Amino acid sequence: MSSPPTILVFDSGLGGLTVLREIVAARPDAHYVYVADDAFFPYGHHGEAQIIARVVPLVGELIERHAPDLVTIACNTASTLVMSHLRDAYTVPFVGTVPAIKPACASSKTKRVSVLGTRGTVKREYTHGLIRDFAQGCEVTLVGSPELATLAEAALSGETVSDDDIEVEIAPCFVGAASDASSRTDTIVLACTHYPLLLDRLAKLAPWPVDWIDPAPAIARRVVDLIGKPGDVFDGAGAEMVFTSGRPHTLSQALMPFFGGRVPA
Ligand code: DGL
Repeated sequence: MSSPPTILVFDSGLGGLTVLREIVAARPDAHYVYVADDAFFPYGHHGEAQIIARVVPLVGELIERHAPDLVTIACNTASTLVMSHLRDAYTVPFVGTVPAIKPACASSKTKRVSVLGTRGTVKREYTHGLIRDFAQGCEVTLVGSPELATLAEAALSGETVSDDDIEVEIAPCFVGAASDASSRTDTIVLACTHYPLLLDRLAKLAPWPVDWIDPAPAIARRVVDLIGKPGDVFDGAGAEMVFTSGRPHTLSQALMPFFGGRVPA
């Protein structure tokens, strides 16, 4: 383990920043490399074989270049497919991001839970397996959103995103009668790391209040389990942001909070 450790966080775009933010809070001393595979965004529009063929060699190149001590795949659309391939191919420890169906179903009181993810994530056999194993008697509604990740990217980049566009994407999550709080959906799994970027708006546009389950804090705890708690010495480790398209990032102000106040190089 290098000191400070280097943690590489990978996503198709800016959504993984919601996971990065929690890891940075748990390990503020670490050096961070955030990689957005924007050249292939959105992953939700690609087939399974294409995603595996894209991500596995790309992560290998990133490991070569940045020598991370741990890699977090901060993308449900990729993690529900590639984790076993990555672990077979490379020795660095990996932490993935998969739909938080188990805690959502454990905490739902009405036993109606929705999983809001990309169309790819809700189709995955991996996701269906989580429901078989962990639904705990809940009725689970899978909602594959075609555009919400793209809308979240646009909003973070300062573009205007209309309420109507967001409402259309989330409406199928709300099952049951608004007037019957004892049986309507009460818990929604944010099964795409982009969606917490829009959390305030999702809560505002929801037809009734629900618990939104964001797995990022649990992922940060897993990272700390694997690489340990921060030491006492903070020596100002840096942060880097890489876009696979090669474009420079122009979002420093908007990105700083996700990097714990650091400006990523
Ligand atoms: N952030 C990704 C996820 O968690 C998906 C966005 C995309 O479609 O690329 O699933």
